[in-house]
This record gives sequence, structure tokens and C-alpha cells, in this order.
Amino acid sequence: MTSGLWTAYEAAAATGGALCARGGDPDRWIAEEWAAGGVSIDTRTLKKGEMFVALKDVRDGHDFLAAAFAKGASAALVERAPDDTPEGAPLLLVPDALEGLRDLARAARLRNFGKRIAVTGSAGKTSVKEMLRCALAPSGEVHASDKSYNNHWGVPLSLARLPMRAEFSVFEIGMNHAGEITPLTRLVAPHVAIITTVAQAHLEFFGTTEKIAEAKAEIFLGLSKGGAAILPRDNEHYALLLRRAEEAGAARILTFGEDPEADFRLMDYAIDGEGGLIKASVRGAPLAYRIGAPGRHQAINSLAALAAAFAAGASIERAARALRRHRPAEGRGARRAIHLPRGGEAILVDESYNANPASMAAAIALLGAQKPERGGRRVAVLGEMLELGPDAPALHAELAPALVAAGVDRLYVAGDLMRHLWEKAPAEMRAGAASSAAGLAEAVIADLRAGDIVMIKGSNASKVSEIVRRLDDLGETGPRARAGGE
Ligand SMILES: Nc1ncnc2c1ncn2[C@@H]1O[C@H](COP(=O)(O)OP(=O)(O)O)[C@@H](O)[C@H]1O
Ligand SMILES: [Mg+2]
Repeated sequence: MTSGLWTAYEAAAATGGALCARGGDPDRWIAEEWAAGGVSIDTRTLKKGEMFVALKDVRDGHDFLAAAFAKGASAALVERAPDDTPEGAPLLLVPDALEGLRDLARAARLRNFGKRIAVTGSAGKTSVKEMLRCALAPSGEVHASDKSYNNHWGVPLSLARLPMRAEFSVFEIGMNHAGEITPLTRLVAPHVAIITTVAQAHLEFFGTTEKIAEAKAEIFLGLSKGGAAILPRDNEHYALLLRRAEEAGAARILTFGEDPEADFRLMDYAIDGEGGLIKASVRGAPLAYRIGAPGRHQAINSLAALAAAFAAGASIERAARALRRHRPAEGRGARRAIHLPRGGEAILVDESYNANPASMAAAIALLGAQKPERGGRRVAVLGEMLELGPDAPALHAELAPALVAAGVDRLYVAGDLMRHLWEKAPAEMRAGAASSAAGLAEAVIADLRAGDIVMIKGSNASKVSEIVRRLDDLGETGPRARAGGE
């Protein structure tokens, strides 16, 4: 049964809005009879029976009201009824739809007695959130944000979807500017707050990573009484984060990383096919487990997830065992075979979901940790890292030693900023440069041969995901796909 998330009366009580139905028959009271199994802000993904919230973002959600009801919305949270609202469609009228969504979120939180975990950081938020979804599952019902829903509407939307009986909930909280995390963490009021890492991202809005650390530390301002802070022990701003967690009244502080002082410490890591084998020391005791996502950075993320699971009252052993079922989210290190036009297979490491210097370095190291089959090469296809401010050229150029250390054989770059890396890369590594990702795809495809491992990464706006799509499409004309069709 999914109809039980919000009844009309509960939603009205939460928001103080008015239940009405445009032109509806007052004798049928339809405006007050609905129940919603979910909350949606996007008619493209809205499922039958969900409540549609008409937010104003790039477009005005009120323009999509008719479409929402055509797709089976049970009701809509709106500021007004546009002319094309279907006759009798149940509405919940509020002065401000985003405020209404926040009200739903607050009410959802107040009626849930589970433990809430909030995750922020310069990289690894979605990864840690997905690890927690997996790790907590054996200990109770888990609710976690969809995708990267981590901003001023994503966080309240995720919270408004919180089932009353979920025992654990996990929320990703992001930011581009100082002050943005504060209202979101106060809304979630987490029992456990995680900072995955602090690194160079959005530098153009901040100037220094210390200011980024300050902004991330806002997450502790929302901690529930008795709450726990989970901190990256290896980070250069650890001392600052610790101070801010203490000042905010965190009752318990747990650390993770490779530092000998870390409470959840990575002792040994080995890449293992599509995942990694981890040996850890957890509060002084040894713990070995496997995670289904490759990369040392993901191993460290998994220790943050285990620390949070422990702080939320789950069993560490059960959580660690469950992590073998974790898979990298779209574009975050997933590995798959692609079928080459001239026969044979190459391995694609899809890191195309966004990039900053920390995640770029992690992805290059991940490529270095994988051994190509005989005759194969390590191929890096890199798009620009954006929003880095005046240091951007240097931050691109500085990746050259990492490429050498990872044993990269072929380097392809797209975009003007990547030119700075291109110039620093060894001549024998340089395979191709173009001003845009689209201009690179043909050359990469023509170059690939059986046994190659190709890693693709760049900021979302660099559009390197387009190259991933082209490589995935190759399979459709490859020998395996043809065999399947016969
Ligand atoms: N702790 C980390 N340090 C460096 N890079 C990381 C870390 N965790 C994840 N990444 C990489 O950063 C990118 C984004 O990961 P994701 O988990 O989606 O982070 P976020 O949600 O914070 O954007 C991926 O390429 C991923 O492999
Ligand atoms: Mg994310």
C-alpha cells in the first residue's frame, strides 16, 4: 500500500492550507477525501496517486498542473488554480508552495521516531548516502533521498516523503554558498551529521577551502540533542570541523580515515573486480568486508557510513556485511564492458557525474589501480572542472603528476581549461584535445582497442557524459548485441 503517506487532512494541518476543488461539487466533498502515496514536483516522474507540488524554479510548476492530474496525481499543493486546472481536481491552497513543502517536511519529521542522518561534503555525499541505504537495510526500514536531492527544494522534498514508520532516514545536504546548509540541517534536525570531505569545489564562490570547511560545518547547527558528528580525520581542516562540532553541542564525535587516530580506520585496501576489499580497525577491533564500488575514496566513504550506522544504533557487523550489495550510483565509478566496432571489448569506467580536483584525483587513482588486459592501455578522457575561480588553470595543470603515477597511456582532454593540463602532460601520453566533449568522441572511439580501460570524467557542464553515451551505444552494433537479436 502506498496511499498512506499523506491524507488531505494531515497535509492541510501541516501546511495550514485550504482544501478545495476547482468547480467541484460541494455535495461530494471530494476536496477532502484524497490521500497521497508520495510527493512529486516533476510531472515527468510523477506516479499515480502522488501529491503534486507546484514549485517555481526554472519553470512555474503551476503550468504543469493539468499534466500532473492527467498522470494521476491525487491532489496538488498550489498557490493558485490556473485556468486549465481540471474540473473537481483536489487542491491544497497555500500562499507559497515551497514554504508548504517545508511545512510538510517538518510534519513528516515530527511524526517519525526513527534516526535521521544528514550527509554533506565536497565529494562523496551521494556515495555515502547510497552506502547507508544498503548498510542500514538489515537493521530496519530505510528512507533515503532520491538522486542528489540536496538543495533548498530537494531536502524538504526528501523529508516530506519520509514514511511515518521508517526506522532510519538519510538526507544529502549540499551547498554552493555560505549559509545555505543552515536552514536545511535545521529542517532535518539529524541525529547524526556526516562531513565526508572538504576540498576544492565551488572555489569561485568561496576563495579558500577553509571557508568551505566553515560552510560545511554548518551541518552541526541542526543536530538533535544528543546527536553525533562524523568527521574526516585525514582532512586538513579536521581541527576546525572538530571545534565547530563541539561548539554546536555534538554529544558524540566519531572520526574515519587512514590516520592512526581515526575511530573507523582504513588499514588496508585492495581493488577487487568491480568492488574493493577492506580491512579496517573499528573502535580498536579488526573488521574486514567487501564493498561493491571500486576506489580507495569509496573505501573511506564506507567507513564514514559505518560510523554513522553505528551512531544511529545499527549493528556495525551487519552494516559492513550488507555493503557488498552497494553499487556505485550513475556516473560515479561504475564499470562496464563496451563492445568495440572492430570486435573485442574494452572496459568503461564511468565517472562522468561531475568533477572537482578531489574527485578527479580519486578517479585517476581508480584508473591507475586497475590493470588492463594484455595489449590494453589506460585511457583517460577528461572534461573541465568548473566553478574553481582564478586558480582553475593551476588546478587543472596540477593533475599531470597523478596521470603519470596512475600509468595513464592515452590522454584525451576537452575544453579550454584542460589545455593547461594538456601542456603539462608527457608528450607520449597526449592522444587528443578538443574544445568540447562532442568534438572528442569520434577520436576516442577510433582509438580504443580490445583490453583498454577507459575512464571518463568531467564537470556535469563539460558534457563528457555524452561520450559515455556514445560508448554505451557502440554495444548495440557490436557482435554480442547482434547475436542477441538472432
Ligand atoms: N571521498 C571522496 N573523495 C574524492 N572523490 C570522491 C569521494 N567520494 C566520491 N568521490 C567521487 O566524486 C564524484 C561524485 O561522487 P558523489 O558521491 O556523487 O558525490 P556528491 O554527491 O558529493 O557530489 C564521483 O566521481 C566519486 O567517485
Ligand atoms: Mg550528490
